[in-house]
Amino acid sequence: MKETSSERIITDDYFAIEFLPWDSDILGYKSGIVSFLPSLPQKGSTVILALKKCLTQAKCDGYRFITAKVDADQFELTNTCIHNNGILVDTEVCFSKKPVKQIADDDKPCKKTKQYWDERFYGVAESLHRSRFYRDPEIGSENAVRLWKESIRNHCLGRASYSVIYFNSSAPVGFINVIEQNNVSNIFIIGVLPGFQGLGIGSRMMRFYEMKLSESIHEMTVDTQLTNISALKLYVNSGYRIKRSQHIIHFWL
Ligand SMILES: CC(C)(COP(=O)(O)OP(=O)(O)OC[C@H]1O[C@@H](n2cnc3c(N)ncnc32)[C@H](O)[C@@H]1OP(=O)(O)O)[C@@H](O)C(=O)NCCC(=O)NCCS
Repeated sequence: MKETSSERIITDDYFAIEFLPWDSDILGYKSGIVSFLPSLPQKGSTVILALKKCLTQAKCDGYRFITAKVDADQFELTNTCIHNNGILVDTEVCFSKKPVKQIADDDKPCKKTKQYWDERFYGVAESLHRSRFYRDPEIGSENAVRLWKESIRNHCLGRASYSVIYFNSSAPVGFINVIEQNNVSNIFIIGVLPGFQGLGIGSRMMRFYEMKLSESIHEMTVDTQLTNISALKLYVNSGYRIKRSQHIIHFWL
């Protein structure tokens, strides 16, 4: 997961490795994320050399776990990664939408708030079983649940710019954690408690979120996994369109 505090970056002409402090804390070993820069050629021996250099440098710097995100149309880079012990764990679909003024809805069950926490939200962590953390056996489902629980709690308690909470009577049963940066509003996590999913709560929260969006926002974004059918349907039905997709590749050094 990409958290934004105290970033440390190793850069090269073709890649950048960024330290992930929060993942490292929870997993108990140094973890980072690598991005390949647009200067990296699509084909040829430079691709192999750049990847080898990146992994060697990460290992020398004490990294044990590196995540790479590779644009889905970069076939040579993807193949090079998976032939160099990279595990293709997931494909992430990144959606985008221009805000549309929403007609006022029955917004009573929803509330926009800077901080709101309820232990029941931990229940969503187990529902995120399609995420890359669960799909990599090296991480293990216990660590995956801990990662998501921590993330959900941190974002509800103020790491997010704000949250939208959905109440069923007085009980909170759904939330959206939103991060606003440079006039772009990103849904970091949306979750509905198991038992309340599939009842239209996610769709209502999405409408409320857009209704309350600040005028300064010119783009809304959200990412999800290719296999998360309910989330894909939710975003497409809410007017989002695919902007890019990226393969998620794990390296254990
Ligand atoms: C994704 C999620 C937020 C959707 O909220 P929700 O309240 O269940 O969604 P809604 O009831 O509003 O339904 C939205 C769409 O998803 C579909 N859907 C909901 N549950 C589904 C399921 N289990 N299987 C297939 N489709 C499903 C609905 O049919 C609807 O599509 P439609 O309008 O074409 O019929 C919720 O399922 C959830 O919390 N999942 C676990 C956490 C997660 O994966 N979050 C997203 C990644 S950050």
